[in-house]
Amino acid sequence: MSAVLIAGCGDVGGELARRLLADGDVVYGLRRRAHLLPAGVRPVAGDVGDPVSLHPMPAGIDVLCYTAAADARSPEAYRAAYVDGPRNVLRVVARTSCPRRVLFASSTRVYPQSAGEWVDEESPTEGDDVYARLLLEGEAAVREAAASSVVVRFAGIYGPGRTRLVDRVRAGEACTGAWTNRIHRDDCAGVLHHLLQIERPLPLYLAADGEPATQCAVMAWMAERLGLPAPPTADTGDGNRGKRCRNARLVASGYELEYPSFREGYGAVIRDMAGGAR
Ligand SMILES: NC(=O)c1ccc[n+]([C@@H]2O[C@H](COP(=O)([O-])OP(=O)(O)OC[C@H]3O[C@@H](n4cnc5c(N)ncnc54)[C@H](OP(=O)(O)O)[C@@H]3O)[C@@H](O)[C@H]2O)c1
Repeated sequence: MSAVLIAGCGDVGGELARRLLADGDVVYGLRRRAHLLPAGVRPVAGDVGDPVSLHPMPAGIDVLCYTAAADARSPEAYRAAYVDGPRNVLRVVARTSCPRRVLFASSTRVYPQSAGEWVDEESPTEGDDVYARLLLEGEAAVREAAASSVVVRFAGIYGPGRTRLVDRVRAGEACTGAWTNRIHRDDCAGVLHHLLQIERPLPLYLAADGEPATQCAVMAWMAERLGLPAPPTADTGDGNRGKRCRNARLVASGYELEYPSFREGYGAVIRDMAGGAR
């Protein structure tokens, strides 16, 4: 049994919490709206951007998992959530605990590649995107503060209630031929759970499903599944844009995806939506 603190315990963190509780772990969930935490999670109400609000912090934390997400698409919000937030939490936790493992949720946004290239943990991340730079600064801050840190760069997250792309297909919106990469919410939680359990994780993993696909391929599949006409294509160029995320390191670590491609994952999302509509 371990004591796990999930800082930023929202969609992914909440699903991870449910899995850890089923294992018999003690789970603390940190968020501002602590009343929204899943049943069984011990609430820690606080703002990661405000160190004073992080007291009192429970002592004896064995594992820290940082999954807070920025409130807005602005450099200030990214700095608060991905740079200052993990620094503050690590500092406050270190006063009463010495976690044996620290996980940090980052994003594949750190890769600037945009001509259909394959990227993995070894790929260059230098680019001029301010949001990518802030995520990389957060990754570095966590690595510096915790020798036992593991950074996980998630692709676009979808899952229950995250139906934006399905809604676009239903609205008859156009698609593009750019490469897209995704991972189901349950696999995000599954990956973090797995990386908490294996003996010697590497310091960095890219977490995406096994099938990068063009946006048009995903939306056309959804349209067929929904019995709708194929979405019009908005592309004029050769379509080889975006990047393709390779998850080979994660798979080699022993992780088996619950949703290996968008077909299984969005199939479940669409089934849930149909169930909810009845
Ligand atoms: N969305 C994507 O496609 C994507 C892609 C790659 C990586 N990621 C990363 O994956 C991780 C998990 O994402 P998710 O989908 O689980 O996000 P989510 O559902 O929005 O959960 C984030 C949680 O962080 C908490 N939070 C935000 N700001 C906070 C603050 N200042 N102090 C304390 N708690 C705070 C929020 O709760 P309160 O509002 O109650 O505080 C919320 O519970 C995040 O790190 C995200 O950046 C997301």
